[in-house]
Amino acid sequence: MELTSNFKERGGEIVALITSTFAASEGDAEGQLVGRMAADILATVAKDDLLVFTALEAGKIVGAIMFTRISYPQDPRTVFVLSPVAIGASHQGQGVGQQLLHYGLKHLRDAGVDVALTYGNIKYYTKVGFAQITDAQAQPPLPLRYPHGWLGQSLKGDGFAPLKGSSHCVEALNDPAYW
Ligand SMILES: CC(C)(COP(=O)(O)OP(=O)(O)OC[C@H]1O[C@@H](n2cnc3c(N)ncnc32)[C@H](O)[C@@H]1OP(=O)(O)O)[C@@H](O)C(=O)NCCC(=O)NCCS
Repeated sequence: MELTSNFKERGGEIVALITSTFAASEGDAEGQLVGRMAADILATVAKDDLLVFTALEAGKIVGAIMFTRISYPQDPRTVFVLSPVAIGASHQGQGVGQQLLHYGLKHLRDAGVDVALTYGNIKYYTKVGFAQITDAQAQPPLPLRYPHGWLGQSLKGDGFAPLKGSSHCVEALNDPAYW
């Protein structure tokens, strides 16, 4: 298994993996929705605001995760939000997701990012350092339908200190359907 932060020229393959993975686990409509979100992220997010990590098996992409910048103008810290996360059905349950998440989070830490947020399955993401947070600890950019799925972690080796003020996500995530 090769893990990489270099995804140049492989956007189509990444979007296809994300679409088919979510379609298989949550149905075609969810596959289309998350696939469109990933395609928009790759097409529109500025280079400095995007980090994509992939897992390759025999040169083929079998897992992909994306982090995009989320701004808290009243807080000096650098914050990125993780979404989406997809490991192809034939590679699930083998630790690939956790390896790729640890790899990506280390990359963010090395790049000086202070805080990572995500929105999803508590049981899964707590395995890679995330903990449940409230709106009071980090205001989400849009109202959350499942507030219990709002998660965060400091990448500085300390506890999660609340982020100040309101937040803005990248335009590609600025859709209530994703939150
Ligand atoms: C969820 C997903 C990313 C996990 O990746 P993975 O490589 O299969 O998971 P790993 O092998 O790294 O981790 C396995 C562990 O996570 C748990 N796990 C896997 N998928 C889970 C899920 N959806 N919810 C909760 N726990 C899950 C397993 O029970 C296992 O636990 P254990 O280590 O205690 O035995 C992957 O299954 C996937 O892409 N699913 C479809 C899309 C999706 O749901 N993405 C995440 C949206 S929040």
